[in-house]
Amino acid sequence: MQMTSKQELKLFIEEMLVMHTAFDETKKSLESFYHAASTLRDSIGVFVVGESRTGKSRLQEELSAKFKSSRNSDGTTILPILRVQVPSKPTVKGLTSEMLAEYGDPAANKGTEQDKTRRLLHFINACQTRMIIIDEIQHFVDKTSKYRIIHHLTDWLKTLLNKSNIVVVIAGLPYAEALLYQNEQLRGRFVKTMRLPRFDWNDEDSRAEFIGLLEGFKSLLSEKFKLPDIEEDEFAYRFYLATGGLTGYVFNIIRQAAWIVIDEDRTVIRYEDIENAYLNVVNQIDQYQVSPFSDKFQLYETVQLKKAADIGKRTDEYQSETIQQAYKPRSLHEALS
Ligand SMILES: Nc1ncnc2c1ncn2[C@@H]1O[C@H](COP(=O)(O)OP(=O)(O)O)[C@@H](O)[C@H]1O
Ligand SMILES: [Mg+2]
Repeated sequence: MQMTSKQELKLFIEEMLVMHTAFDETKKSLESFYHAASTLRDSIGVFVVGESRTGKSRLQEELSAKFKSSRNSDGTTILPILRVQVPSKPTVKGLTSEMLAEYGDPAANKGTEQDKTRRLLHFINACQTRMIIIDEIQHFVDKTSKYRIIHHLTDWLKTLLNKSNIVVVIAGLPYAEALLYQNEQLRGRFVKTMRLPRFDWNDEDSRAEFIGLLEGFKSLLSEKFKLPDIEEDEFAYRFYLATGGLTGYVFNIIRQAAWIVIDEDRTVIRYEDIENAYLNVVNQIDQYQVSPFSDKFQLYETVQLKKAADIGKRTDEYQSETIQQAYKPRSLHEALS
């Protein structure tokens, strides 16, 4: 009994979702593209851009959970949305294999590039796929080689767009926008770019959104826990300095604090739990010498605000994947184990 309720609480934490404006607008926009897909004569592309931890992948999860796979009466699979992640050293063969595997193709790894692309186009039709979401699209740009675009991959993407009539959503880090700047034909296919921003304390609207995010978490958490007023002026400001306005860091801190409390059979999340969580889950290189949740932190020095705006940027460089994996559970199962 005790165990399941802990599990349930952790599951509850994992599923918390705050519909801030950018998230809501991007989601609605993608939904409307999805609904328009069946009427398309040609494929169109949509780009979702944002730094790490701004919610791009979460948004895709929400979308594919809404339009789930199912089975026809004759047993054929329907997969309305196909999602894949570009691996860090991508090839056309590798990427198409992954997509075929999502369709359950037993020969996903077999064949030439052309064979695989042909089979992929077959599955798109047969499984009534309306939208393909390709995450981590920045891996189409080779950072180790002066941001060189891997043209073989963009050419393949163009083929996919030319030979189907679906919505192709690509999502990734801001430097991936070079893909469209530098490729006129591809750009011609892309009808919209949407941004999931980090929140900015210096901008009034953005600050209000950030406080709204904290309010959102607070009100969700209040169903199960007691906690301090994280959305109030000074607390919110400390949260901003700690996270640089990145939703993922806010969530990580809150989740970690809740885990501490759940594991100790408490229901009150205390100030110290939040500070401890910060020290545990925010990447070392994104931390200050003194925690922004500490009394000793020089809260109102402008240099701190400057530093906050850079949080997460260095982890977006080469090492980002390995660093993130160091503390991010790969699955819910792993998170709860
Ligand atoms: N609107 C939101 N409400 C609640 N949690 C969110 C929201 N957006 C993102 N998160 C959480 O923040 C973390 C980072 O988000 P993620 O989608 O992985 O970012 P990205 O793909 O842009 O790097 C994830 O744990 C995710 O569930
Ligand atoms: Mg992601």
